[in-house]
Amino acid sequence: IAHFQPKHLAGKHVLLTAGPTFEAIDPVRGITNLSSGRMGFAIARAARAAGAAVTLVCGPVALPTPAGITRINVVSALEMHAKVMECLHAQGADVFIGVAAVADYRPATPAEHKIKKEDGAPPPIELVRNPDILAEVAALPNPPLCVGFAAESQKLAEYAERKRRSKKIPLIVGNLIQEGFGGDNNAVTLFDETGATALPPGSKAELAHTLIERIAKLLEKPEKP
Ligand code: PMT
Repeated sequence: IAHFQPKHLAGKHVLLTAGPTFEAIDPVRGITNLSSGRMGFAIARAARAAGAAVTLVCGPVALPTPAGITRINVVSALEMHAKVMECLHAQGADVFIGVAAVADYRPATPAEHKIKKEDGAPPPIELVRNPDILAEVAALPNPPLCVGFAAESQKLAEYAERKRRSKKIPLIVGNLIQEGFGGDNNAVTLFDETGATALPPGSKAELAHTLIERIAKLLEKPEKP
């Protein structure tokens, strides 16, 4: 039996990122992380259930595409950045949610051929910064409502709030890495200008619905004079 879903986001376009990125070192190796994509996919599903048109830009994950959403697969942070910007230019968005665990750095020059094991010192890997997709979207002249995520191993409140301020976004969702990465459940705290609100721990699907309701309320808020 389908649950009744209020269509809070009817007529809205929600763009989101999910999963890890993979930054090539050579044709077979790379730098990545343990994001499964589950949190982002749950939010995509919840946004769709709330009536939104949903575009999901996701890194390499092994998850089926939720019904009714547009999925764009990418590998690296640079590709994720390009697809997000392309989508914003083509269609715009009312909401942007950065759920992806984007690599902060990438190897400066991936080797064209497989790196061979040599005697002597291991080869150095020079890293360069990736673009910050969320901060860039939030800094656009007419930005969508931007929501971030912060996965931390300690000092969640301090680090999440710091990220919210530095990226100049109204809302960030904090989770501890041992609770957020992989798995079907999570425990999250929402940080906005009014402070911190811990949500009851639950499945990623339940938390996604609560978050989407919260975002719908933020969209309804009249503009500040
Ligand atoms: O995929 P799952 O296994 O379900 O796990 C979910 C999750 C733990 C990955 C997710 O809930 C989560 O917390 N995602 C954000 C991970 C993180 O620590 O992000 P960050 O602190 O590197 O970045 C902060 C915010 O900026 C995020 O919204 C991120 O998407 C965004 N960002 C970061 C770097 C970058 N170059 N571009 C970005 O857009």
